[in-house]
Order: sequence, then C-alpha cells, then structure tokens
Amino acid sequence: MLDRRRLCLALLSGAAILSMPLKSRAQPAYNDRQKAFRLDGGGVTYAFGINTKGQLETLHWGGRLGDGDTLGPVTARGDHSSFDLAISVSPLEYSGFGGGMVIEPGLKVACPDGSRDVVLTYLSHSLEGSTISVRLKDIARNIYVDLRYIMDADTGILSRSAVVENRTDDWIDVQHFAAAILNLPVNDDYRLHYLTGRWAAEWTLQERPLEAGSTVLESRRGSTGHQNNPWIAISRADTDEEDGPVWFGALGWSGSWRITVDKDAVGGVHVVAGYNPFDFDYRLAPGETLESPTFYAGYSDHGMGGASRLMHRFQRNHILPGHPAPKIRPVLYNSWEATTFAVDARGQMALAEKAASLGIERFVMDDGWFGGRNSDKAGLGDWWVNPQKFPKGLKPLISKVRSLGMEFGLWVEPEMVNADSDLYRAHPDWIINFRDRPRTEGRNQMVLNLARPDVRDHLLGVLDSLLRDHDISFLKWDYNRNWSEPGWPDVAPDQQPKLYVEYIRNLYGLLAELRRRHPHVEIESCAGGGGRVDMGIMALTDQVWPSDNTDPYDRLTMQEGFSHAYAPAVMMAWVTDSPNWVNQRSTSLAYRFLSSMQGGLGIGANLNHWDKSDFATAKRLIAEYKTIRKTVQHGNLYRLISPRNGSNRSVTLSVSADKSQAVLFAFVHSSTKLDALPAITLRGLDPRKIYSIRVIEGGFDPRTPPTASGAYWMTHGLSVPQKGDFQGSLFGFEVQI
Ligand code: GLA
Repeated sequence: MLDRRRLCLALLSGAAILSMPLKSRAQPAYNDRQKAFRLDGGGVTYAFGINTKGQLETLHWGGRLGDGDTLGPVTARGDHSSFDLAISVSPLEYSGFGGGMVIEPGLKVACPDGSRDVVLTYLSHSLEGSTISVRLKDIARNIYVDLRYIMDADTGILSRSAVVENRTDDWIDVQHFAAAILNLPVNDDYRLHYLTGRWAAEWTLQERPLEAGSTVLESRRGSTGHQNNPWIAISRADTDEEDGPVWFGALGWSGSWRITVDKDAVGGVHVVAGYNPFDFDYRLAPGETLESPTFYAGYSDHGMGGASRLMHRFQRNHILPGHPAPKIRPVLYNSWEATTFAVDARGQMALAEKAASLGIERFVMDDGWFGGRNSDKAGLGDWWVNPQKFPKGLKPLISKVRSLGMEFGLWVEPEMVNADSDLYRAHPDWIINFRDRPRTEGRNQMVLNLARPDVRDHLLGVLDSLLRDHDISFLKWDYNRNWSEPGWPDVAPDQQPKLYVEYIRNLYGLLAELRRRHPHVEIESCAGGGGRVDMGIMALTDQVWPSDNTDPYDRLTMQEGFSHAYAPAVMMAWVTDSPNWVNQRSTSLAYRFLSSMQGGLGIGANLNHWDKSDFATAKRLIAEYKTIRKTVQHGNLYRLISPRNGSNRSVTLSVSADKSQAVLFAFVHSSTKLDALPAITLRGLDPRKIYSIRVIEGGFDPRTPPTASGAYWMTHGLSVPQKGDFQGSLFGFEVQI
C-alpha cells in the first residue's frame, strides 16, 4: 500500500520548495506601520500590503528596492466608473469571484443555497522562518484562503500557492482555484511570450503584444499537454535577449491547468495561474481543504536570456531530484527508432555491444518487451516479460548490458491500457470513463483511473516488483494520449470531478514512493515526446523527453524554445538515423551529434546500419561530450543567435558557473553566395582571464589566436566560416592557469 502521509507530502511540487534549505530562502519582513510585506532575493523585490479596504494589494514586483523604501500604507482604489468597479481594476494579490469582480479571480465557489459570491479580505498573517502565510476570509461565510509566499534568496524566484478551506457547515463546490495572482506595473508596451506545439512539434516560442482583454493558455487534457506549456514571460517592447525587464513564471502542475493574462479596463496586467476551472467543481465537505499547485514567478533585468538562466539555476538548485546538485545525465542508447516493437534478447544484446563500444553509459530498451506488445494495438497494462521475445526473462539481457559496463533502463507506460490486454479484460472498470458511454481510444489505448486507490496500489505493486526483481537503473515513463470521457463512475456524481486533482496527486505519490523504495533508479518523463514537461513532474523525474521529433535541424528551434522555460540539465536529445523520418532531411552524423549535444546526449539510431567511420565519429564525439557536458547541462546558457523566424544561423554558448570553461555551438542552415558570416561574440566569460580555444568539430578562421582574454572573445569575437547546408561547429574554451 502506498503510504498516505508520504503521498501527501509529495503530492504538490511545493514539497520541493519546502525542502529548500533555510539559508537559501529570502528573509521576509512585515512593516506594521506601512502594513506591507516585503521579500528581497537576487535582484528582485516583491512587496504587497493590506489596503484600507482590508484587501491584499501588490506594491512592487520588479528590480530590488532600497532597504528603507516606504511601500505603504495603501489607500484602496476607488471605482473607475460604475462599469469598472475598483475590485476589477486593482492589483489584488488574490481575489474571489464576488463584489463585482469581472476579471479572472483566484477563487470561485458555489454554495448549497445558490450563492456564488466570495469577497476575500485580510484576516491574519504569520512569518515563520522564510515563509509568509496570509489568511484571507470571505466577508460573510467561513471560507478561508491561506496564501503562501517563499522567495529564493539567490534568484529572487517566488513560490506562491494557496489553500482554500471550507469551515461552513455544508459543502461548497470550488469551481475555480488559482495558486496565485501576479500583478505587473502598468505599462503600455508589454509583449507576451509563451510556448505552443503539438506532437512532434513542441516548444514553438510565440511572442505578441499584450493587448487589452484576456489571453488564456491552458490544457483541458488531464495532463500538461503539447499544445501549450504552463510557462509565460512578459517583456517590454525594447527588452531583448540580454537586456531589459522580463517577468516570468511557470506552474508546477501536470494536470489540466490554466494561465490567464488579463489586461484590465485601465491597463493593469494580472497573471492568474492554477487548476483549469473548465469542468472542475471540486467539492469540499465541511472542514476540508484543497491545496493549489505552486506557481514560480521571477523577474530579470537581463532580458529573456537572464530570465531563463535564473529559471535554470532555480530548477537545478531547488526542483530537480538531487538538488542542489542533480546528477549529470549519462549518455544513453535507446532502441525505439532502431527496432520499434521488434525487440528481442538477441537483437538487443547485439545493439548493446555496439553501444558499449561507443562509450554509452546507459542502455535503454524501449517499447515492445512486455505482454503481447507486438504493435501499439495490444499489451499495455501487462507488465510481464514477453516469453517469445525473452524466453529466459530480462535477466540475461540485463547481465549482458551490465557486463558491458552500462546501466540498464526500461520503457514503461504505466497509466495506460490497451483493450487487448489481460489487465483490461480483468478490470474494464479501471479506466477513466462515463458509464454506458463510448470509451474513446487514442493510439488504441485508454487511460487508467489513477485516482482510484486500487489502480494506484496495483501500479505501485507491479512497478515495485519490476524494479525489485531486476537490476534496472532507469525508467522511461511514457504517457501517450490525453483523457477522454473524464468520468469516475464508482464515486458519487458530485465527487467525480475530483479526478482532475486526485489523479495527479496519486501520480506524484506513486513516483515519490518508487523513488523512495528504489533511490538509485532515475526516471524520464515522456508523453509522446514533450506532453508532460512542467515544474511539478520535474521535481520527481530526472530528465524529460522534449519531443519525438529527432530531426536535428527542427530540434534547434525546439531546444531553443524549451530552454526559455526549462533547464538543459533535463533536456534529452538523441542522434538518430538520416534521412530523418520527420522531414526526410539528410544531415551528417556530426551535425546530428552537435544538435543533440546541446542537452543530455542519447543515441537512438540503428547501430546495425552504421559503418566503421560512423562508429569512429560517434566514439570521438561521445568522448568529447563527456568533457563538456557538465558545462552544457549545468552552466549558464547564452542564446547568441536564434534559429527562429527563418534565421540562417543558430549559436548558443554555455559557460560553467566558475567561468573556467565555455562551450560554443554554431550552426548554419545554408551558406549562400560566398556571404561572410558575422563574427560571434561570446558572453559571460571573465574578461581578465586567458582562455584557449579548442576545435571539437568544424573549424574557425585561421587567423584566430590559440589563446586570448575573455575580453577578446567577448568583444573581438570569433569568425566561423561555414560552407554548405546544415553545417555545425563546436568549440571548447578553457581558462589558462
Ligand atoms: C512514445 C515515445 C517514444 C517511444 C514510443 C514507444 O511515442 O515518445 O519515444 O517510446 O512512445 O511506443
């Protein structure tokens, strides 16, 4: 059985924040005279106060203020007009739907008497260690909201969450519940940045002016989703990659979510993030509470690049398993594109031998090893080893892989079931469904109702024995469809919508419990590519699979988009065969390697088709990767030339935290008309130190000095002549002692 207490601890990603060491959290302050709360961390001050109506109002979110600056007391605003009452044009820290609220509120509830009016005012607060907790209460009913604020002293990233409590003597239905509302200063030139996509095309960075009205980013799918990712950034018109203000944030939740950016009638900008209110209706009995996920909000003066570097650092230091020093990603081999479902002991052993000769550290057998899984039509749910493919079980393969000096990893998709499976035949009631309604399939599969305790316990049992009985170091945890018919027929109708929350809580609990029982096992979050990447799942998984699209050129823009929100420390990228299945584009093996070396490197090609020179190239580049990967995965990332918007080039630079190593990737799409490519100027080096340059792939202008100061590389720069189509170059810079 899954320990309920432990599960609760792990259920929301806020748990990661609570484990933040006290010394790395900013010390909050409350000034009673000013009625103002203040948090300072990194280059950021966040302040809010209690206004004369008893509402919580944002006072400042932006660059760091002076220590003695006065922030309050705040006189509550008046109505703008009889149409736009004060409540809808004030920068409230948290609001209820009530009292004339017409923009996105934090909370909306329905009561048994039909009332749907909540007006929240300040009741009390506490400053415990580094946490500010503020208790709000409805003006008439015993409905309470506790807001929680914790700031990271280093990055200034603020973790915000809320708990709603029903202390009335009857039920309430929570129809809308946000983690936080964040208010930006009034400006008329904001630009909104967000990430969109679809299967095999995730991580497209969108940018548009923030106009009056609402912009809604969301998933109604039961999971994070490919189409929108729960991350946003808002910049000013003249903000660029390295300069200017950026407000940004991401929601740590792997279920249906919504982020609304409202520009109110007088130009105030409010970001509201939390559970998706669509179809939500979470019933709270008297005495019950509902906790929101955590919204992580940050600010940078250093452009989009500065914003993402803060996010990467925060994720490494406070979110990822093993924080503040998450493990470096090993180089892996994955069988999927090579063998699809046609896995067997002999074939995998042959691949493993070849993989080991390249310097691969982890061999992962993908889909096809279990049940009757010969295609995507059968077998999901039956997590027993297929006896035709593996007559002696998995142990001989695992021993072989281990004897070759590699770890062994396995693909699983625990939350799903094919109709053609023993599990479904035995438990047709275990899936998410509405009674007597069709059960829509996607990829021939249905979603198990993980909110059910029996399903949760079954999955824990199956996965626990798989890990107990085998020497497995890694699970690729897949999830290949969205929900349909989101019903839970075995509970009362008014309890059914709880599926949206309970499913994800049990998913987090399951992952946390498996990690506790098998601390050496690492997990990858995959959902048909990048359908489940968010700061909730990242607290429980060591790496993510950004996309099934492994075309190395498509990946440049996708990886760039990804890097705006999430750390290269978790971003896996594979070298696969050419021409690539996505675009039929042919690229050199070196180009494919360089594209994949921008993250955690994997090989997914069919090694049986490689010739001697392919093996030599791969072996060399894998060895090189091992010398630069710490900087690539954990360094500071500078996006020097973006591949977006038809750009002919893509250049990124990663600089190690101590500035002793830098790694420069330079790609060109096509050279034309003997055009000269402008020199690349580096960033983030120590200007006074001397750095040597080393060619890992490609070449530079022969007049380039072998060593030069950081100042030289950052001002004079480096010329990289690249001729042809899909060319890549890679250079390492090392400080000379
Ligand atoms: C999903 C994953 C792939 C692969 C297949 C296996 O599409 O994203 O990497 O594991 O499932 O069926």
